[in-house]
Amino acid sequence: MSHSPTSSAVLPAVDDDSFRIGLQLVERHGEGTKPRQFEMAGLQWQLLPQVFAPTHTESTALFTEWLPFPVGGTFLEVGCGAGVTAVMAALRGCSRVTAVDINPTAVQNTALNAARHGVADRMQVLCSDLYGAVAAGEKFDLVFWNSNVIFAPEDFVYTRQVQHAIFDRGYATHHRYLREGLGRLTSAGRMLLGFNSLGDADRLNELVAASGARITERRRAIRHAGGVPVTFQLLEVTDGSGGGKAA
Ligand SMILES: C[S@@+](CC[C@H](N)C(=O)[O-])C[C@H]1O[C@@H](n2cnc3c(N)ncnc32)[C@H](O)[C@@H]1O
Repeated sequence: MSHSPTSSAVLPAVDDDSFRIGLQLVERHGEGTKPRQFEMAGLQWQLLPQVFAPTHTESTALFTEWLPFPVGGTFLEVGCGAGVTAVMAALRGCSRVTAVDINPTAVQNTALNAARHGVADRMQVLCSDLYGAVAAGEKFDLVFWNSNVIFAPEDFVYTRQVQHAIFDRGYATHHRYLREGLGRLTSAGRMLLGFNSLGDADRLNELVAASGARITERRRAIRHAGGVPVTFQLLEVTDGSGGGKAA
């Protein structure tokens, strides 16, 4: 049985509330085709249809404020959406920012906002399934993803681009983010994950352990999203062996 955004009668047994809030969030992104504007971090941004709207929850603003952008260093943002975090990284002094998204409209949106704020020369914006289109062997001082935290069952069918911003089928993308990310870090590089309490923390912890990694909370804040209190967490992923970074 497939779980489509319009068949809210069919919900997974795992966590009906989170799944239902995810469906509502997808619906709030609407079917409109007109670009919109919003303000964040004191700047104006363009938002294209079917791109994660940083205005529906506080995740984008919180993580952008909390991230330790490496001044003079390199930053890889996985899942850049409208581009707020990636563009702010460039504005706050990263020498090179790579921003990737699986949603081609998000890639276009980030490129538009990079040009608007005069940092396109420092940014590479790619359509990529996680690290897939990032040059082999390229490493970064900071890797970050504000992830699609809501677990979707294996038979979930993505029918709209924006669903990739909300739902991770089988947590397969979280698994790959964890498994492959440490190998993308420079010697002093850091890997962070923006997570929240609508996500499946038990499953995340299992994947962290299976990846030979360890996870540590760096920041947290409680805000409302979808009418319920949600705890937003900035988590750091490190090599669980206590030694060097995972290959
Ligand atoms: C919660 S949204 C965050 C968007 C943006 N970073 C922000 O904070 O406003 C998650 C983003 O991850 C992207 N994404 C999901 N799966 C992905 C994958 N396999 N590879 C790259 N990006 C992915 C989604 O398309 C979406 O833009």
